[in-house]
Amino acid sequence: MELSENLLNAFICGDCFEEMPKLPDECVDLVLTDPPYGIDYQSNRRVARPKLPKFENDVDLSWVDGWVEEVYRVLKPDRHFYCFTRFDMYPVFYRSINRFFKVKNCLIWVKNNHGSGDLNGAYAPQCEMIIYAGKGKRLLNGSRESDVLHCDNVPSAFRRHATQKPVELLRQLIEKSTEPGELVLDPFAGVGSTGLACIDSDRFHGDHHERNYLLFELNREFVEKGRAGGLGRQEILLESARIARQEHPKKRPALRTNRVRARRDETLPIPF
Ligand SMILES: C[S@@+](CC[C@H](N)C(=O)[O-])C[C@H]1O[C@@H](n2cnc3c(N)ncnc32)[C@H](O)[C@@H]1O
Repeated sequence: MELSENLLNAFICGDCFEEMPKLPDECVDLVLTDPPYGIDYQSNRRVARPKLPKFENDVDLSWVDGWVEEVYRVLKPDRHFYCFTRFDMYPVFYRSINRFFKVKNCLIWVKNNHGSGDLNGAYAPQCEMIIYAGKGKRLLNGSRESDVLHCDNVPSAFRRHATQKPVELLRQLIEKSTEPGELVLDPFAGVGSTGLACIDSDRFHGDHHERNYLLFELNREFVEKGRAGGLGRQEILLESARIARQEHPKKRPALRTNRVRARRDETLPIPF
């Protein structure tokens, strides 16, 4: 069923648990979202500006089952669903999503920097997970990609939301899973990064087609920041990176990890 015109490319300040039930069945072509992880997140970044605010529904995850059912209802048949999550909340999201959808991959987003966390007792967190699931059968566009996605994080000085996702990463997922003119829903939109990725999609691949978006965000401050700011500084950075890539195409640098190579000519010593 088609969505009413006034919801096309709308960034609505509202509770997705109230707004999604108002949508007709099977009206969106992709759900791409970054929900609260249920960890009561507070950014710890050390900069002169005040800490970025906490957000709602981040204390427990009792809402996940009912929400995934709504996602399934509003998605058209043969469509995809991407849901960001973290290693410790993955089982909760996986279990719910797998009840309705076929979970196809756990994509790993590798960032160029890492968060802080337990400085001496844990490895520095440099990745996040994205559950990729399907309702029915739909192929991915373009060539076959790895399930490990490398993308720079939004530089902290330009972040307007504590867990803002890079538009470049979202754009890649949108282009893999939708056609120009299709509609992308983000029920937990933050400052609207998914909407910007829809606007951005395919603009630099020649055919100038965008995807449509529908965004819900509970916190008015984030909605206003998103509506007012556009991409701001982040867009300038992305654009200059794109131009540089076009002018000097080169392979992405390898990850800077100390790789331990398996040696085929040796067996493990047997302790006596
Ligand atoms: C992890 S953040 C998303 C950030 C986003 N990806 C971005 O790049 O800006 C989750 C967002 O969901 C919002 N939220 C929490 N409960 C909500 C609800 N019931 N309806 C709509 N938004 C909600 C929070 O305010 C928060 O901004």
